[in-house]
Amino acid sequence: MKKFIIETYGCQMNIADSELVATVLKTAGFEQTNNIDEANIIIFNTCSVRQHAEDRVKGRISNEQARKRDKSDLIIGVMGCMAQRLQEELLELNIGVDFVVGVDQYHNIPNIINDHLKIKTDFNHQEVYHDIYPTRKGKFNAFVTIMRGCNNYCTYCIVPYVRGRERSRPIDEILKEVEIAGNNGFKDITLLGQNVNSYDYDGIHFPELMEKVSQVESIQRLRFVTSHPKDLSDELIKVMASNDRICKHVHLPMQSGDDEILKRMNRGYTSDHYRQIIKKLRTAMPNIGLTTDIIVGFPGETQEQYQKTYDLMKEIGYDYAFMYKYSPREGTKAAEFTDQVEEKVRLERLKEIIELQREITLQKFKGQIGSVKHVYVENISKKSDLELSGKTEDFKIAVFKGEKSLIGTFVDVEITDATSGTLIGKRV
Ligand code: SAH
Ligand code: SF4
Ligand code: F3S
Repeated sequence: MKKFIIETYGCQMNIADSELVATVLKTAGFEQTNNIDEANIIIFNTCSVRQHAEDRVKGRISNEQARKRDKSDLIIGVMGCMAQRLQEELLELNIGVDFVVGVDQYHNIPNIINDHLKIKTDFNHQEVYHDIYPTRKGKFNAFVTIMRGCNNYCTYCIVPYVRGRERSRPIDEILKEVEIAGNNGFKDITLLGQNVNSYDYDGIHFPELMEKVSQVESIQRLRFVTSHPKDLSDELIKVMASNDRICKHVHLPMQSGDDEILKRMNRGYTSDHYRQIIKKLRTAMPNIGLTTDIIVGFPGETQEQYQKTYDLMKEIGYDYAFMYKYSPREGTKAAEFTDQVEEKVRLERLKEIIELQREITLQKFKGQIGSVKHVYVENISKKSDLELSGKTEDFKIAVFKGEKSLIGTFVDVEITDATSGTLIGKRV
């Protein structure tokens, strides 16, 4: 029997897609392995969002190519966003790629392998993958895709070009997938889309979808990513605040604190509009966890404009931020802008906000001391096997002393200390 392994890069959408592809392959008679030495088929699920993401995976593929010397039947495949973007170029790179499969061709993976095909990236046919209910790896957290693609065309971003137009999955299929996941022990569900707020299936919008999914008996917690600030509605805030199963956490990418830059990014909101949403969220849910994405060194970003991002990060005080220096993506509008910021400056700005956020995170986490958190126990702590670790509702890691048998259950933990990244506490 042919054994395959999938190595996943990029965002949660890719994690979910890897599970989807694994399910397609298993249904077709292939066997999944976690041991790369055992695999006859190695598939890389790739990301194109920044140049670094592509370079890294190309390096990985090239390394694995060496295995072909001892194993002549080994096949290396590339799926995901970089496969969609580079297509046959990947075959021509001489890094050992045998097949390339685009994001809307995953149904065809068994044929590609069985018939020794090289490439399938037809993009005109855009999928929502009806009636595939993935068997999942991992244990407690399941990612459920509710929509694919993106229509927003932020000027720096490659995603709309590689993932295509926005389309929503039918609500019945989402409910079924969530129910199955819950029955299999995944109590913490994250609904996924590049812009979940624009979910629209047969006139059902995102807040209503959240309500419906939260009522699935077999689950306990519901989350979502990513919210676009321009589309986050009052209705959603109301639903979040009034529903106990919906976790009080929002990931709301700010990208920049400067209005001119936001405009050039085509983000569709101003810094004041963004502030307003944060205010509404915090008024409705005072203990809400907030995280964000930031880009520094976008073309034309002056020191003053950068400073506004720095100041807004400080003002809002996120629990955590994913921070990036701008990376030009061929084919996007911003890559054509003639006022690119010097690499050295991008890097300096990035270092500075990483340092700022480290301090803010520490402060935020210390601020939790004395509170009691409901924790979904997922693991034995990495540091010591006397300690367990789990996730709080507001998306923080908490560690505490406890018995292994608590793994998979929900417990209350009183927070007694914190580092910049972990809450430390004791069971109450
Ligand atoms: N759909 C999500 C994010 C998708 S990409 C959203 O709109 O929020 C994840 C993050 O990568 C983005 O939020 C952005 O901060 C970052 N990113 C995207 N393109 C980038 C680029 N060209 N250079 C640097 N960072 C980028
Ligand atoms: Fe990219 Fe913008 Fe779409 Fe997010 S909303 S995926 S940043 S184009
Ligand atoms: Fe995700 Fe990267 Fe594709 S962020 S959508 S895997 S380009």
